Amino acid sequence: MIKNELLYEGKAKKIYATDVQDVLWVEYKDDATAFNGEKKDKIAGKSRLNNLITSQIFEALKAAGINNHFVEKLSDTEQLVRKVTIVPLEVVVRNVTAGSLAKRLGMEEGIQLDQAIIEFYYKDDALGDPLINKDHIRLLNIATPEQLQVIRNNAIRVNEFLLEYFKNVDVRLVDFKLEFGVTGEGDILLADEISPDTCRLWDIHTNQKFDKDLFRRNLGSLTEGYEEILTRLGGSSCSK
Ligand code: C5P
Repeated sequence: MIKNELLYEGKAKKIYATDVQDVLWVEYKDDATAFNGEKKDKIAGKSRLNNLITSQIFEALKAAGINNHFVEKLSDTEQLVRKVTIVPLEVVVRNVTAGSLAKRLGMEEGIQLDQAIIEFYYKDDALGDPLINKDHIRLLNIATPEQLQVIRNNAIRVNEFLLEYFKNVDVRLVDFKLEFGVTGEGDILLADEISPDTCRLWDIHTNQKFDKDLFRRNLGSLTEGYEEILTRLGGSSCSK
């Protein structure tokens, strides 16, 4: 496989074309950003941790029958994925109150929800990724009602799988963000990443945080938290 031209550089990843049609080369970066890019830092080792954790989770999802864009891990910081056109939605699933939900509704963090909450945010940096509903999604032509239903059903399946997956390693899955893409054939496919950058992950007994809130809220070492997640999931570095 040959890495060709850079197609896109985001806050946390670079995406390159390859010599294989519909396969992209993703390189994770050590950059950490929060609050729509207002807080920034370079954290050595973050790219490795996110690439290894997300690769492992996407492989596990695939094994459980939840199809996604992941193709293969190439190195500690690189992976191959299937090319999709990203739907400009951040799909947030919540099992426990935290973050913007707690703030918006004036609730304490850490309250277990009896039913998962699904929220949609419009992926638009200039607008600050506003919370939107299905009527807005239709108005903006972001997805058809049928596509949105597939996205919603997928998000619920991913949540059911991940709740158990993390519970098995004594981690409380508080909330997380998913992104979906559309394949050349027009199918909705789970894409992007699932890592401590995009999830809130707390120790099941102590509620110790192992996720990006360590960075957002200056609570301690981000890499120590992410390393704890990788270790608990039994992950390891690539020998290649
Ligand atoms: O900030 P908020 O409480 O809405 O975040 C909910 C979840 O979505 C958190 O796990 C957070 O890490 C994730 N998220 C993300 N990327 C964003 C916004 C939120 O991964 N741009």
